[in-house]
This record gives sequence, C-alpha cells and structure tokens, in this order.
Amino acid sequence: MRKKVIAGNWKMNNDIVQTTELINGLKSLIVSANAEVIVCPPYTSLATAQQLLVNSSIKLGAQDVSLYDNGAYTGEVSVSMLKSVGCSYVIVGHSERRQYHHETNEIINQKAKKVLAGGMLPIICVGETLEEREKNITDQVLTTQVKGVLAGLSAVDVERSIVAYEPVWAIGTGKTATKEQAEEAHKVIRNVITQLYSTAVSEKVVIQYGGSVKGDNAKELLSQPNIDGALVGGACLKADSFASIITAA
Ligand code: 13P
Repeated sequence: MRKKVIAGNWKMNNDIVQTTELINGLKSLIVSANAEVIVCPPYTSLATAQQLLVNSSIKLGAQDVSLYDNGAYTGEVSVSMLKSVGCSYVIVGHSERRQYHHETNEIINQKAKKVLAGGMLPIICVGETLEEREKNITDQVLTTQVKGVLAGLSAVDVERSIVAYEPVWAIGTGKTATKEQAEEAHKVIRNVITQLYSTAVSEKVVIQYGGSVKGDNAKELLSQPNIDGALVGGACLKADSFASIITAA
C-alpha cells in the first residue's frame, strides 16, 4: 500500500508573519494525519517554518533548488543550504519553472539527482498543456517528460521519489482534471516507470495529482487507485482548506 502524500506548494506567497499564522493554524488542525503532510514555503520562510515545525509530523520542502553547489550564482540556493534549514523534500520542474525559467527535462533531471544525492527527496513535476491535450498527445508528452526527468536515476532513487502530475491547464484555473482524466494520466506515468524499471519499482512510486485540488474534490481524486496524493497550490494557503484536503486523504 502506498502512503498518501499531501504537499502544499505556497508558491510566492506568505511573509514571516503570514508563515507563522499558517503553520500554527496547520499544527492545531492536523494533529494526527494518516497522510504524509509537506509544506513548501518560499525560501525566505523556510527557517521560520522549520522552527515552528519542531516536534511536528509536518515535513518541510522547498520549491526549487540550484543546479550548483556553491559560488557565484546570484540569487540561487543550494541543496546543502536547503538541507541545513531542515528540508526533506524539494519540488523540481514545476510547470511555472518550465514556463518562466525555461527549465527543460534535462535540467529537472539534474536537479532531481542533486536533491537525492544531498539526502532529500524530489517531488518531480510533469504535465501537459491545454494545447497538447487538445491535440491528443498527452500520453506522448508525459512519456517524454517522465523518461527525461528520470534518466539515469537508480531504481532505489526512483522508488523514493515523488512524481507530481500537474496538467498545466488545471493549475490555478479552478478547472480540475476529472478523476478519470487524472487516473488515466497517472496510469500512463506508472506504466512508463514499469517499462523503465519494473512493476515492483513502479508500484512503490508515489504519484501526486496537482491542479485546482480543493477540499470538495480531493476525496474523489484521491480514491483513484493510481492517485497517491496531491500537490496543492491555492487551497494550501488557508489552514482550514489545506486541512480539509488532508482529511480527505
Ligand atoms: P493550484 O492548486 O492553485 O491549481 O496549483 C497547483 C500547483 O501548481 C501546485 O504545485
């Protein structure tokens, strides 16, 4: 049985005061969750979040990481810096990074490897655009992305990694994939991992769905056999709405 994993991607939201309020709110609402719960605040809030999460089962994640270890890379944050601030997870390859920062499958693959080598776990994002879905090439797009982002990863590392299926057209639009659309895409992703590794490996990989997940649609999405969790944007910014998704899991 795969464990359900619910992660909140705060994106570029919440200063220190808001971070404190949100984390304290979550701690009071999520006392015992069956799911693994992860929060991914912006870099500037990680240290505050880490302190507030001492003695909590809620895990800390970052939203991105540098490809480099240290040196003259203005504005970048390294794997070891994230590790030292208490991160256990790092989101890599979010579609907003692909779109606004021109991240390719190759870059995302390198970042995933760095995260794993640094003792953390990557949440590796894939997903098709609306144009690609309308052209009926979703399966090919997902296959290419999964092969690209996992290239050269060992079976052990793949088993420990999380893949997040986030259809670009469902992100921040209020348009959720239907449970059938999401389940179908998750099956495609799991089949690619089976082909690349084995059934034993693919059966262990947690595949999250992301894209307008809310308290009222979480249950039907999360009840699909291949949907093992959620990567939540907008609805993770309020403690009660994030908690309702965790309860649904
Ligand atoms: P929304 O939940 O706001 O659609 O965002 C999803 C997302 O991009 C999470 O990484």
